[in-house]
Order: sequence, then structure tokens, then C-alpha cells
Amino acid sequence: MEENDADFVLEIRNDETTRAFLHDSRCFTKNEFKEWFKTSRPWWFIVRTNDVRFGYFRTNYIEKQAHSIQIGMDIHPSFRGQGLAKPAYCMFFDVLRSNGFKNIWLEVLSHNSIAEELYKGLGFVATNKTPYKENIDSIRMELKI
Ligand SMILES: CC(C)(COP(=O)(O)OP(=O)(O)OC[C@H]1O[C@@H](n2cnc3c(N)ncnc32)[C@H](O)[C@@H]1OP(=O)(O)O)[C@@H](O)C(=O)NCCC(=O)NCCS
Repeated sequence: MEENDADFVLEIRNDETTRAFLHDSRCFTKNEFKEWFKTSRPWWFIVRTNDVRFGYFRTNYIEKQAHSIQIGMDIHPSFRGQGLAKPAYCMFFDVLRSNGFKNIWLEVLSHNSIAEELYKGLGFVATNKTPYKENIDSIRMELKI
């Protein structure tokens, strides 16, 4: 991901259908994005099909020694439900593997059944559940690649 992907990333990130399923549901301005990008140097990836951007992978809690990383993906609303997520994840696992990662984990909110089904289909197993807010839990899911 480049700094000039800001508009595309924020179009997804700030959409309410995305924020409803994120742990941090704040909206961000372009300036905030640019500042965050400069200071955090995030290891994030834009994903494309036929050269058209349709989403991005997020990473966090990178622990090289434990070969562990937290991941997540958000797809642009107009590209959802087209079967793009699964193959993108499989390609991303190759990138993670080639960077030495073996222990992949994520947190999904319990009302996000689309994402939870996707993760189960990819082989993720739920390992923990903690209350997030009224009637919603945060489910930790893990996968060894
Ligand atoms: C979660 C998300 C990345 C999934 O991407 P997608 O493009 O919608 O998913 P796909 O079309 O590739 O489908 C993948 C799987 O999701 C499930 N799925 C997709 N659309 C679904 C729907 N409308 N109803 C139920 N399940 C659905 C299916 O299990 C499907 O697997 P299958 O092909 O074996 O049936 C996307 O919906 C998204 O960005 N959502 C908003 C942000 C978000 O939730 N991010 C993840 C936070 S943990």
C-alpha cells in the first residue's frame, strides 16, 4: 500500500458497512491517514483483480520471533459477495509464509457472520471469545499456515 492509496482505502474504511464490523469504528480524514501512514509505516497490502483495486489486507501485532501476525481484510462494498475474498486470502498466506509467518490470527465480531463463515472456510479455528459490547463478542480465530 502506498500513501496515494489514501482515497481508495478511506472509501472502504470510512464506509458504515465496513465500520459496523471493525473494532475501531472511527472515521479518518485523509490527513489523519497520511500522518498515520508516515509514522506507522504499516505493512498493509492493496489487492487487485485484473489490475483493479478491490480491497486491502491489514496486519498488526507482528511478532517475527513467534512467527505470529494478526491479519484482516476489508473489501470495497461494490466488490463484495463475488468470491474474491477466499482466493485473495490464499495468495496472502503465500506472502506471509515467504516472510516466515506460521501463526496467523484475527479477531472477528460475533455479528459478522459473513466474515466468520469465510474464516471457517479458510480453516481458522475459534480459540477465544471475549465480550465486546452489548450482545456482541469478539472472537479470536487462529490458523497455522
Ligand atoms: C468480510 C469480507 C472481507 C468478505 O468478502 P466478500 O467479498 O464479501 O466474500 P466472498 O464473496 O469472497 O465470500 C467468501 C465467503 O463469505 C461468505 N459469504 C459471502 N457473502 C455472503 C453472504 N451474503 N451471506 C453469507 N455468507 C456470505 C461465504 O461463506 C463465502 O464462502 P463460499 O464462497 O464458500 O460460499 C467483506 O464482506 C468485507 O469487507 N466486509 C466488511 C468489512 C469486514 O467485515 N471486514 C472483516 C472484519 S473481521
